Amino acid sequence: ASENTTTYKEAYRPQFHFTPKSSWMNDPNGLIYLNGNYHMFFQHNPDSTVWGPMHWGHAISKDLIHWDEQPIALFPDSLGWIFSGSAVYDENNTSGLGKEGKMPLVAIFTHHNRKLESEGRKDYQYQSLAYSLDEGKSWEKYEGNPVLKNPGIVDFRDPKVRWNVEVKKWIMTLATKDRITFYSSPNLIDWTKESEFGEKVGAHGGVWECPDLFPMKVDGKEVWVLLVSINPGAPNGGSGTQYFIGDFDGKSFKPFNTKTKWIDYGTDDYAGVTFSNTDRLIFLGWMSNWQYAEKVPTEKWRSAMTLPRELSLEIVDDEFLLVNKPVKELKKIIGKSKSSKNIQITDALDLSADIAQAEGKFQLKFNSATIQDYKIVLSNDNNEELIIGYNKKDNQYFIDRQNARKEIFEKGFGAVHTAPRLSRSTSTDIELLFDAASVEFFADGGLTAMTDIFFPTQPFNKLQIKSKEGMLLRTLEIASVQSIWN
Ligand code: FRU
Repeated sequence: ASENTTTYKEAYRPQFHFTPKSSWMNDPNGLIYLNGNYHMFFQHNPDSTVWGPMHWGHAISKDLIHWDEQPIALFPDSLGWIFSGSAVYDENNTSGLGKEGKMPLVAIFTHHNRKLESEGRKDYQYQSLAYSLDEGKSWEKYEGNPVLKNPGIVDFRDPKVRWNVEVKKWIMTLATKDRITFYSSPNLIDWTKESEFGEKVGAHGGVWECPDLFPMKVDGKEVWVLLVSINPGAPNGGSGTQYFIGDFDGKSFKPFNTKTKWIDYGTDDYAGVTFSNTDRLIFLGWMSNWQYAEKVPTEKWRSAMTLPRELSLEIVDDEFLLVNKPVKELKKIIGKSKSSKNIQITDALDLSADIAQAEGKFQLKFNSATIQDYKIVLSNDNNEELIIGYNKKDNQYFIDRQNARKEIFEKGFGAVHTAPRLSRSTSTDIELLFDAASVEFFADGGLTAMTDIFFPTQPFNKLQIKSKEGMLLRTLEIASVQSIWN
């Protein structure tokens, strides 16, 4: 077992994204807000920096930005390893798991039974419960586990549960191989199958995982959003998260159309779901990709979470599109920005001096009345560079990390990733957040998002914005971001 101490100063250690103190992490699990605390649980193998026996790690935050890692919440047991799932606050004690007036926090997760798997059986994943009467400090597994047995489907996992006000039941959204299956329950214990969705819709380059279903309002109309992570089969390779918009009547989901859309077009935002028990939609993803997650060159720990993002909807050409932006709480750690107005970029604008003190963690924003080809280039003295930009010919944004590292640790890692520009506006704005080894790129108010990780052999110390045709920036802002670990 690796030692559970860190200075948070190791190479590539993010300074304003959550990482476990040590060892392996993948999906966020059981995201929930309760009595002033945001709880993040996460897929965790505490004994290694690669995937293995899964536990639920735990961290708490008051503001979604500063996280305090807690003791492990759920350990593997005789029914299996603890795979992904969700948590709900059962405030009316529908489950009967509450005691002496204390209402339970209930985790609904997948048990993954390695023994059954090794015997060649298909039914080795099933859904179980654990509950806490002290706000997540201590947990009991439900004695009647599993609560939802496997009907013989190899991939049968990642329950996301939410109270449905119309049918007054809990609805479970479950990933079942190449589709989503919806179940309902009055009490979190007895589940009834309602419907299936997706066999012939959406991207199917890999298995469906980690879904989420929630209502959203736009122009006074309620629509339902269904998130479905898929691995592999994402637009830029490996793992990614697609979404559908439609109606949900408490039983079945009907999409408005069958277009495939992606919440984030970068390669490093996977298995993201929303927090429960909040009055806004806060989405959080795992900032890596199964294609190389176990090979990235960090030593003590592996993987970070994305920044928590608030979701909203926008209508473009009669199409509902998800918009994601970092939560407003991020402002607390953004330093004083250097801002300039009416900057004409002719050829290249050098901003290296503005990031000299930032130690790799900074925010860059600009706003322009027109959009032309541009490149934002980060580089170092070892001739490594990361390029983020826009290409007018294809109307695409891109992140090029082909030369972001000279040493190769996985052959597909160094590539150019593209994303469609979805905005119809003639003007544009961008926000970029860099943190040691990651960039989150939000264009046009968050209509297009891209998240990518990168590992230069030396920190990037030069920053330039280039535009061959020239571009007039109405505003340009750069600010360093404070570390959350101080
Ligand atoms: C997604 C996933 C889930 C599963 C978990 C196992 O990244 O494969 O489907 O529950 O990871 O760690």
